[in-house]
Amino acid sequence: MFGSIVFIVWQGLLMTQGTNPELSQGDLYSFLMVTLLMAASIGSLPDFYSGIQKTIGGTEKLMDIINESSESELFKGTDKPEIDGSIRFENVRFSYPQRPEIEVLKGISFELNRNETLALVGTSGGGKTTISSLVLNYYKVSQGAVFFGETNADSIDIKYLREHIAIVPQDVLLFAGTIFENIAFGRPGASEEEIISAAKQANAYDFIMSFPDGFKTQVGDRGIQLSGGQKQRIAIARAILKNPTILILDEATSALDSESERVVQDALEKLMKGRTCIVIAHRLSTIRNANKILVLQNGQIVESGNHSDLMATSGAYSDLVKMQINLG
Ligand SMILES: Nc1ncnc2c1ncn2[C@@H]1O[C@H](COP(=O)(O)OP(=O)(O)O)[C@@H](O)[C@H]1O
Ligand SMILES: [Mg+2]
Repeated sequence: MFGSIVFIVWQGLLMTQGTNPELSQGDLYSFLMVTLLMAASIGSLPDFYSGIQKTIGGTEKLMDIINESSESELFKGTDKPEIDGSIRFENVRFSYPQRPEIEVLKGISFELNRNETLALVGTSGGGKTTISSLVLNYYKVSQGAVFFGETNADSIDIKYLREHIAIVPQDVLLFAGTIFENIAFGRPGASEEEIISAAKQANAYDFIMSFPDGFKTQVGDRGIQLSGGQKQRIAIARAILKNPTILILDEATSALDSESERVVQDALEKLMKGRTCIVIAHRLSTIRNANKILVLQNGQIVESGNHSDLMATSGAYSDLVKMQINLG
């Protein structure tokens, strides 16, 4: 390229020489300037094109999100029946919308009375978390129905329904903000005394006050890192503040060392009193006291009953219990 530039300039200069030049010096300069500008513009075209391609790709993804229908369009229920804590699953079949060909729940039926505890146990991938998502009405069932009292979940206002349900998940999500705000998220509008009292009941007060900023400590991406047990106690404080009719504990102590597990377990037992509870893969002591135990394998209930019934049959449940004991 530089060779050809040198050649053209050289030829151009030659043409401006002599007594009767073919080209004036002014014309040569204009020619060179115009050519340079054109070359630079053409050279930038590929960059420009790939930029447009990237933008189109990004915009498509963005439009997919913008065009996604909101929950209030999908769940049109408006009923506000009394939620007393009784739950019934009637032959529920379910596949996730992203993978419609794989049936995750294959005909699940059970009935849970007010203030009873249901324990879900079984191999991972069995469908335990999926059942808890259906109780929270995160998805619509494919077949069958979920009832709260005598009302089909489909016809209940989901915002109203979720005011009565709290979940302590395995991976607690903390928002960027203070510890105070993160607990208050359980029930927006709660007073300061209520939040402090919830933290005390969750055995979280002492570790919160050990930080220099106390309840004003920043957590989340830009704040301090809390340990798994500390996060879980904040989630428990949230649930206590919410005072739900129905409580879901999804592997709530599985990520803890034994010291923090004892403290968290203690807080959980207080929280479980006087509510309908669904506990997943929890400590044997909680499962043993549950009113009903469902053993799930590949989306089916393979055994159900209480602890002594299931131990007597020496099936999948008693195998699981033996394994836990062996693990110490
Ligand atoms: N969001 C999802 N989208 C698609 N498939 C999922 C989703 N969540 C879970 N699954 C699938 O559903 C099955 C049951 O999962 P899950 O209810 O989480 O089991 P468990 O809690 O008993 O370990 C698994 O096969 C899992 O791969
Ligand atoms: Mg799970």
